[in-house]
Amino acid sequence: MKRSLAVSTAILSCGLATAALATGNIQAGKAKSGACIACHGKQGISSTPDYPNIAGQTEFYLVKSLREFRSSLRKDPSMNRLAKELSDADIADLSAYYASLRR
Ligand code: HEC
Repeated sequence: MKRSLAVSTAILSCGLATAALATGNIQAGKAKSGACIACHGKQGISSTPDYPNIAGQTEFYLVKSLREFRSSLRKDPSMNRLAKELSDADIADLSAYYASLRR
C-alpha cells in the first residue's frame, strides 16, 4: 500500500513536470530573447563557433540547460549571470521559442 502510493506520487510528479514544460509561450519567448541574440544569433544560430546554436534544440533540453545554468550546476560565466535573472516562466517561454526555430 505504502509502496503503491510512492509510485503514484512519482507518476503524478512526472505528469506535472511535463505539464509545466508545455506551458512555454513561443511569442512571449521571442519577446524575451533580446538578451540572447548577441551570442546565439537572431534565429538561434550563432555567428561564431564560441557560442552554440540553440535553434531547433528540444524544449526539454533547453529548459534543463537553463535551469542548470541558473543553479550553477552547469558553469559558464555569461550563462550563469544571465540565467540568474530568469524566472521559471522566462525559461519555459525562451525554450518554447528556440525549440520552435529551424536549425
Ligand atoms: C555573452 C554571450 C551569451 C549570451 C548573451 C547568452 N548566451 Fe547562452 N551560451 C553562451 C555560451 C558561451 C554557452 C556555452 C556554455 C558552455 O560551454 O557550457 C551558452 C550555452 C547556452 C545553452 C546550452 C546550449 C547547449 O547546447 O548545451 C542555452 C540553452 C543557452 N545558452 C541559452 C541562452 C539564452 C536563452 C540566452 C538569453 C537569455 C543566452 N543563452 C544568452 C553564451 C551566451
